Amino acid sequence: MIQYFLMTDRLAIRQATAEDADYIHSLWTSPDVMKCVGYPRGLLIDVEEVQSQIERDGGGEFGSRLIVEDRRTGERIGQTKLGIPDENGICEPDIKLHPDHWGVGYGSELWTALIDYAFTHPETQIVRGTPNRSNIASVRMQRGAGMETIAEGEFSNEGSPHPGAVPVPHYVLHISREQWMEKARRMQEETAS
Ligand SMILES: CC(C)(COP(=O)(O)OP(=O)(O)OC[C@H]1O[C@@H](n2cnc3c(N)ncnc32)[C@H](O)[C@@H]1OP(=O)(O)O)[C@@H](O)C(=O)NCCC(=O)NCCS
Repeated sequence: MIQYFLMTDRLAIRQATAEDADYIHSLWTSPDVMKCVGYPRGLLIDVEEVQSQIERDGGGEFGSRLIVEDRRTGERIGQTKLGIPDENGICEPDIKLHPDHWGVGYGSELWTALIDYAFTHPETQIVRGTPNRSNIASVRMQRGAGMETIAEGEFSNEGSPHPGAVPVPHYVLHISREQWMEKARRMQEETAS
């Protein structure tokens, strides 16, 4: 039976399996999906490499490739990931939805759920996002979840093995465990009143 470890109103999240390799490959090689993360021609990768990445993932929710499904239809709508918290307790989620499913609020719904899940890891102190400054949907999605801009930077993508890789000017957005708990507390108060 398929195990979903995270559910939202409309979405169900599970570990990717080898059978998802073709699907993930189609997302990673799509210029539409990858252009805002610095790969306007998609990644140069074959299905076998995607499959072996999935096999190496090890089965934890943090650090593994995850699949996003529409709960109503069971259809896959994208791939996501929750980074393993680093030595500073920073956890970085990532979302890649298929363009057929953009613009109906799935990204925002999932991003909020990923932040919440990230803080279930005892080592997570901060959730970080680094959206391309021109990726309006991603920036709005992250700010809409209460994340604050703390810096700007640029990923150079120099030496990338993927042809056509370009630099990514990005914001650095953070939300801390305390800020997230405070937001949850305020929402509870509003619901109760
Ligand atoms: C970035 C991404 C996850 C956003 O998901 P989505 O489901 O399309 O986003 P949502 O529908 O939840 O919209 C999020 C916000 O962006 C706005 N938005 C969505 N599409 C937009 C567009 N084309 N132009 C401007 N604003 C847009 C929405 O109105 C919403 O803002 P609001 O809450 O202030 O109204 C999705 O576009 C994607 O997977 N892109 C490819 C991969 C990528 O760039 N990932 C970013 C790294 S996390």
